[in-house]
Amino acid sequence: MVQKDWKKSVVYQIYVKSFNDTTGNGEGDLQGIIEKLDYLAYLGVDYLWLTPIYDSPMNDNGYDIRDYFKVNARFGNEKDLKTLIKEAHARQLKIMLDIVVNHTSTEHQWFQEALKSKESPYHQFYFFKKSNDGPPTNWESKFGGNAWQYDSKSDEYYLHLFDVTQADLNWDNPEVRQEVFKIVNHWIDLGVDGFRFDVINLISKGAFKNSTAIGKEFYTDGPRVHEFLHELNRETFGDKGMMTVGEMSSTSLEHCIKYTREARQELSSVFNFHHLKVDYKDGEKWTNQKFDLQQLKAILMYWQRGIYEGGGWNAIFWCNHDQPRVVSRFGNDENEEMRQTSAKTLAIALHMLQGTPYIYQGEEIGMTDPHFTSIHQYRDVESLNAYEMMKRKGYEESEILTILSQKSRDNSRTPMQWDSSNHAGFTTGKPWIDVASNYHTINAEAALADESSIFYTYRTLIQLRHEHDIITYGDIVPRYMDHPALFVYERHYKDEVWLIVANMTSEVVELPNTLDIKGRRVIQNGTINEYEIGAYGAIVVAKEKE
Ligand code: GLC
Repeated sequence: MVQKDWKKSVVYQIYVKSFNDTTGNGEGDLQGIIEKLDYLAYLGVDYLWLTPIYDSPMNDNGYDIRDYFKVNARFGNEKDLKTLIKEAHARQLKIMLDIVVNHTSTEHQWFQEALKSKESPYHQFYFFKKSNDGPPTNWESKFGGNAWQYDSKSDEYYLHLFDVTQADLNWDNPEVRQEVFKIVNHWIDLGVDGFRFDVINLISKGAFKNSTAIGKEFYTDGPRVHEFLHELNRETFGDKGMMTVGEMSSTSLEHCIKYTREARQELSSVFNFHHLKVDYKDGEKWTNQKFDLQQLKAILMYWQRGIYEGGGWNAIFWCNHDQPRVVSRFGNDENEEMRQTSAKTLAIALHMLQGTPYIYQGEEIGMTDPHFTSIHQYRDVESLNAYEMMKRKGYEESEILTILSQKSRDNSRTPMQWDSSNHAGFTTGKPWIDVASNYHTINAEAALADESSIFYTYRTLIQLRHEHDIITYGDIVPRYMDHPALFVYERHYKDEVWLIVANMTSEVVELPNTLDIKGRRVIQNGTINEYEIGAYGAIVVAKEKE
């Protein structure tokens, strides 16, 4: 299915393992997605991004691929996937697959062959390096520890920027690139409509030298990355009207403009994560630092303006499977009223920005972090490594648990809350990870039954984007950037101006007297009058250009 005006679309991310289980094994599956297509069509989204569905030992929940051509038996089979694509298309929903080609699982046949002999052509598919005095460089793995693993058979080290079971592929080798093209084309032939490329800005490694930090400078937006992406585009999806998004780790605006300027033929859009580091402390994630609103606004606007002026394209998002739940993070989940209001305001503040919005499963009903209290509730490899690392550093158990409850990737991986029945209607078996205990009140069934719920705010925002070009194409003008509580900006398009005002705090806030909120109210949340705006209130006003 070719999407004509893909820029007006909204994407819904499905973390397959936690979406809907139809077999009772405690993990979501493809049939489970099929069962919920009507729900997604009713929400009104255009694309469904499925996290990796391929055969995998699941050390990193599928981001460690063992066989790129085979559907993970835990999720179903190829027939289920074909049915899913067909049923989705019948509802005007398009399917995006997640392609993980920076690395493979060490159980992938290529890696297994590479281990057998240095003479094997597959040895050149990865980065094996000889080093006599410890690891070849001091680079750190993103999941903790050194990024090189010693292999006694070859007496070499191999590179893994992520888990030790995720070996980095050597894209400098043209044979690797050919194999990647085959993979992507295989799924295009099967009928998918787009792709999300996992950590794709790490595929070109530069010099293998010691770093004064953790090594990022040698492989982030590396020397040949644009060349590789252009080639990928030309060899696979480029002429097929597909939507693509690249996940860009620690990237720069300059590179993201290059990745997404249409004429360069690389990708349609990019995710960057700078706005989701505003609750890190001096770059360190594993702290219980509160988020900095001024920084959040400044970073969002830097990217909005920069991408707009540079002619690139942003993906915009608060949540994904690697991030805590936004309502718990930048909103307020202390009580039901605050949860609802802050979730709606966060939705409005994001969905009026320029770029392609992503909704992560459960965000549309205001799912919160689960507030786990024991290390035994965590499953994520990164979180478990971080726990050990903090233990070694001498942190108290309670302190570690507080930090994990705010930062762990498992915060967003708990099962989708469908209804108030056992395990939130996610499974009839034992869920692979605990369901958040608030599912009796926070669930899709309850949200659908209440016209004033968060779900309907999302639904309205999606409709607005489809109907009003200003949201997609309008210029963006930041306003009142120094205001300590309000996030304010304008969109300008032809003879219209839309003003967006969001109170990002739990206090009632006086409106600056130079701020004129008169005009047609496009959407409103909470109380607002010409003088003040209630806790987590938001408003979008349409005016004619003066
Ligand atoms: C991306 C994925 C994350 C995964 C990592 C390694 O950041 O979103 O879940 O662990 O890449 O593949």
